[in-house]
Amino acid sequence: MPRVAALLDVAAISDITGVVSADTFERPIYAGNAIATVQSKDPIKVVTVRTTAFETAAATGGSAPVEPVSGAGAAGLSCFVSAELTKSERPELTSARVVVSGGRNIEAPWAIFASPLPLDDFATMKPGFASMLQFKLLKLATPKSVRFSELYFLEAARKVRRSVSCKLGYVGGVLSLEAAQQVLNEGFDAVVMARSLVHDAALVQRFREDPAHRSGCTACNRCVAVMYGPSGTHCPLTGNMIDARLNGLPAGTVEQ
Ligand SMILES: Cc1cc2nc3c(=O)[nH]c(=O)nc-3n(C[C@H](O)[C@H](O)[C@H](O)COP(=O)(O)O)c2cc1C
Ligand code: SF4
Repeated sequence: MPRVAALLDVAAISDITGVVSADTFERPIYAGNAIATVQSKDPIKVVTVRTTAFETAAATGGSAPVEPVSGAGAAGLSCFVSAELTKSERPELTSARVVVSGGRNIEAPWAIFASPLPLDDFATMKPGFASMLQFKLLKLATPKSVRFSELYFLEAARKVRRSVSCKLGYVGGVLSLEAAQQVLNEGFDAVVMARSLVHDAALVQRFREDPAHRSGCTACNRCVAVMYGPSGTHCPLTGNMIDARLNGLPAGTVEQ
């Protein structure tokens, strides 16, 4: 179908589940978890249809004309050899019980952080037309309702915990020992902290000294913007720097 669309120089719209009007269709995205409404201005529409999304057509009584067409017939250039089904151990994305996605880094960073990015800081750190445009678009797209709260991913993470048996760490808004303990009590195997440790690398030691201690991280995300600058990731609010050598290690480096 994409080949047909390319030869006609029009867009291919695949797997539609609804027809809104002559040029507007609905189709599932994000493994069926969201429905996108798409419009095509092309003179010819090339669409594939998810037939199960539509009512079964009546066997009789329709009014569509049936037109016989003549053709040259098979040229004998291809033939059916066999059909084989590929069996995968992994669940099909469309039927998976849980699809893990906190939000796409580029398109929806506020979903990962549960707080808006300081886009003006980003623009200063990453000058240039392309990034300026990107940040302007991000600014427009950031929803007004984003609100940070402690353990903001817990509800979603519980669903993942119930669905998989592998080891699982929790990440998202851990600011206190009490929250970390709750996460462990709920069956997570590890507690991951990002911004609260950038805010204060000695946080775990402070929890030891005072179990009621809370991180003062405000979730302003300025530390994310400065990671593109010469000083690397640190908390501009406290001025706490991170060891330059550690800051320079590529993500995923394991040190004994
Ligand atoms: C400076 C900084 C850089 C980050 N870079 C990445 C990254 O490259 N990839 C990623 O998936 N998450 C990245 N994150 C997101 C964290 O992994 C984490 O999901 C997020 O900060 C929420 O956890 P927190 O509330 O403990 O900060 C970054 C976070 C910070 C603060
Ligand atoms: S800049 Fe500091 S206070 Fe702001 S989110 Fe980062 S660590 Fe927290």
